[in-house]
Amino acid sequence: MAVQFNYLAPKGWKPSKNHLITLIKVELSQTAVKEAKGKPLRKIFKDAAASVAAESSTGTWTKVYDGPDSGIKRAGIERAFAFDLDYNNFMFKVAYPISLFELNNISGLFAGIIGNIAGMKMVSAMRVYDVKFPEKMVKAFPGPAFGVPGIRKILKKPYGPLVATVPKPKIGRNAKEQAKLAYQLFTAGNGTYDGIKDDENLTSLHFSKFEERAKLVLKELKKTEKETGHKKFYLCNISHSNIETMRTHAKLLKENGAVFMMLDVICTGFAAADTMRRYNPGLAIHAHRAMHGFITRDNSPGIHGHGKLYGFSVSMIFLAKTFRLLGVDSLHGGSPLAKMEDYGEAKYIQQILQEKHLKPHPKIPSLGQDWYHIKPVWMTASGGLHPGDFEMVMKELGEDLIIQCGGGLLGHPHGVNAGVKAIEQARDLAMKKIPLKKWVEQHPNSELAAAVKLWGYGPRIVY
Ligand code: 3PG
Ligand code: MG
Repeated sequence: MAVQFNYLAPKGWKPSKNHLITLIKVELSQTAVKEAKGKPLRKIFKDAAASVAAESSTGTWTKVYDGPDSGIKRAGIERAFAFDLDYNNFMFKVAYPISLFELNNISGLFAGIIGNIAGMKMVSAMRVYDVKFPEKMVKAFPGPAFGVPGIRKILKKPYGPLVATVPKPKIGRNAKEQAKLAYQLFTAGNGTYDGIKDDENLTSLHFSKFEERAKLVLKELKKTEKETGHKKFYLCNISHSNIETMRTHAKLLKENGAVFMMLDVICTGFAAADTMRRYNPGLAIHAHRAMHGFITRDNSPGIHGHGKLYGFSVSMIFLAKTFRLLGVDSLHGGSPLAKMEDYGEAKYIQQILQEKHLKPHPKIPSLGQDWYHIKPVWMTASGGLHPGDFEMVMKELGEDLIIQCGGGLLGHPHGVNAGVKAIEQARDLAMKKIPLKKWVEQHPNSELAAAVKLWGYGPRIVY
């Protein structure tokens, strides 16, 4: 491959502001080493990096016809360059001139930059760590319609995290029962519980049809807003493989006074996220990320750049940037204590979602990003969380945070109302920076103490 042109940047070459950059690490395959017949690994790595740049921009595996009308001149001018080669870790960057892409088409972009490269026989493993979007591409997207400031305004919540519950069992309650639970959550304790979210597999099922559930839950929600004087939200799941159905469902939510819609952005896809942002009827988008583990999870020692990689993956950093660009208002970004080992990325993901001038992470391979007009996005921490985690989660991820507890509320030993109270207590302590452990020792009969007795303070190993 890479035989027609040199896809390696000349020494000292630097990308311009009109380049899109990716950051990649590879393992060389036995086939590549065998076919190279004694060539030093360094040289084979160089060929692999050049091949990635070729395959993902204008090249292919062999020299092709280059006569008149072949397009070869443009292919040469607009080719990508592999640069900044790290021969110790087999890591490198690829710079693409933006003229290679439609500026507002993520599907087209990804078909190029990561579409085919994982199929190359030269490599036996690969991780795409990051993508840095150039200014012109960022400006081609509207970004979140509301983001952190917009949602704070609608919910009249100028500071502090939002707490929400994902009802468990995840499938079981009918529409009426879901609405009843919403009423209970929102009126228990001090009436300050903020939100309820459908679980990922709760769509429009025979016992809980979308329309019935949406209407009933939103009706109860409005009632509790009046009773408690606090605004509430419902992350109602519109995810469907038919985008027209999602648009109909979003319209129905808006007509019934919703603030948010919930979209499973990996299962529905980049086109769905983009379409729902551009044609949405005035709702914020809560992005859940079911299925991402099959794309982002990599348990090999080389995950942080040093050591061997065993598989093929794209990082959550890459996906989080993409969904901020596509305009979701909140994104499930994991938690420092989540169900699944997240390699310490949760904090960086929160920064990706919220900073205007993001710097590369000192330890995790990354590129940084300038966001221009794109609003900050709510970080959502979820997965195996319980009140004993709040202090640590909020310390790590800040206040522009939606903390979701499913089992961590509905599993409270004294029931749902006690679960709400325990979470209110944990949230308020964290806001006042009062150490949770000490407070629990001083209030052994509190709902929070009962939760801590059951689940402890640290992360739970779930499943
Ligand atoms: C989610 O959809 O975010 C999870 O189902 C949360 O559930 P858990 O708090 O019980 O892990
Ligand atoms: Mg779930």
